Amino acid sequence: MSHSPEINEFIITADRAVKDALKIIDSNAQGTCFVVDQSGKLIGVVTDGDIRRALIDGKSVESKVMDVMQTKYTSLPVTTPIDQIQATITDRIRHIPLVDENNVPVDYASFTRAHRIPVMTPLLNGNELKYVTECITTGWISSQGAYVKKFEQVFAEYSAMQYGVAVSNGTVAIHLALVALGIGEGDEVIVPDLTFAASINGVIYTGATPVIADVDAETWTLSPEAVKKLITPKTKAIMPVHIYGHPCHMDELMAIAKEHNLLVIEDCAEALGALYKGQHVGSFGDAATFSFFGNKTITTGEGGMVLFKDENVCNKAMVLRDHGMSKQKRYWHDFVGFNYRMTNIQAAIGVAQLERLDEFVKAKRNMAAVYNAGLSVNTHITIPPEMEWAFNGYWLYTAIIDPKGGVSRDELIEKLMKNGVETRPVFYPLHAMPPYLEYVRNGQTFPVTDHLSRNGISLPSSVTISAEEQNSILKAVSAIFKTRKLNDSN
Ligand SMILES: Cc1ncc(COP(=O)(O)O)c(C=O)c1O
Repeated sequence: MSHSPEINEFIITADRAVKDALKIIDSNAQGTCFVVDQSGKLIGVVTDGDIRRALIDGKSVESKVMDVMQTKYTSLPVTTPIDQIQATITDRIRHIPLVDENNVPVDYASFTRAHRIPVMTPLLNGNELKYVTECITTGWISSQGAYVKKFEQVFAEYSAMQYGVAVSNGTVAIHLALVALGIGEGDEVIVPDLTFAASINGVIYTGATPVIADVDAETWTLSPEAVKKLITPKTKAIMPVHIYGHPCHMDELMAIAKEHNLLVIEDCAEALGALYKGQHVGSFGDAATFSFFGNKTITTGEGGMVLFKDENVCNKAMVLRDHGMSKQKRYWHDFVGFNYRMTNIQAAIGVAQLERLDEFVKAKRNMAAVYNAGLSVNTHITIPPEMEWAFNGYWLYTAIIDPKGGVSRDELIEKLMKNGVETRPVFYPLHAMPPYLEYVRNGQTFPVTDHLSRNGISLPSSVTISAEEQNSILKAVSAIFKTRKLNDSN
């Protein structure tokens, strides 16, 4: 019988000290270990709870494991059918040692091993299939078709912007918006240090020079103070990115733009549904861009949208999206354009997703409220911001871990993974990555982004996440901190 390698992270012999069991529990991050005798046979289990109770009862960390372990426990033969194993796992019995014919543990089953919680999954059980089927049965599968127009119209209306241009993803949305607004070589565009690389890449594609600004500690978004210091005669635009769902300081940024005659392109890829002082993000600037990648608040698989205020700019973007081909004269090209079109199939999914956007945003905010309540009791965790003027769309629930609590962000990621919880680190600062080093100005520092990037973790945030899943994530986080504390204090 072969051993699963993970079982070794659970085994302790009965004559070892309680402090050794604590180390094992801390390292496996599962709250339990399996106790064996000298010949390797299973004779008990010991949990962090057992140890805590034993210490209260006067035992010490030098006591032997055999004196604190439970001798009544559940184990199963490793040959047990999977459905029977799963039926035995409950909220109380979360780990089951699986033993060979000699009662030697060779593997284990756990609730989290059976149920992996992803960072994000789409929800596509509305009208998506019906509308896509219609595209297929009618043959309108390419980028002509009623759904593209409808998606653009309904999306622009929702966001309170005049014009919508559907495109193939959120990255080309940024590029197209900038080109349509006339940004190119010789121009400077200010972008936040904390964002997904597509924001800065879109600027570089145009030939313009990106200028990187730190974010502010309150909202994690583009700092108006930092922007002011970076303006030069070449500055043409600023790009507020509403990161993780929180709106930027739009009043301050729009005032700066007005004073210096700058264009504003809002990157709203992560903030559909978010409001700044009651107004939809994406409706402040000259253009706004969105992404409908599979992990976004609404998805079309891949997809994006640009919203514009000016009809002429929108018309130019529509031409550029379609190879730069004249709308009046077929196969006549006035510009070097692109093929950035969205298909009717993608738009059909988008229309169905939009029908449920309010419901999705509500689910996101509910998800965030549950995490906030569970995590804010931990003084070493900072929950995501929501300024009094903001309505956070909570696209991706992101918290900051203070390493002084004894658990680093990276350790938390690793241990949550062992508990079947997928997470994400916060983006690396743009200023630290090779393609963008040349855009950092002499003496520039980015303390806020550095801090957030080093210590930020994003938790599972699907609209489908259940109360049980969130509860098990919160329990796992709390157990990881508690075990570490107990371990360190001994
Ligand atoms: C802030 C931001 N901008 C732009 C994008 C690019 O969108 P896409 O992946 O659809 O190209 C993303 C996400 O993917 C993003 O998070």
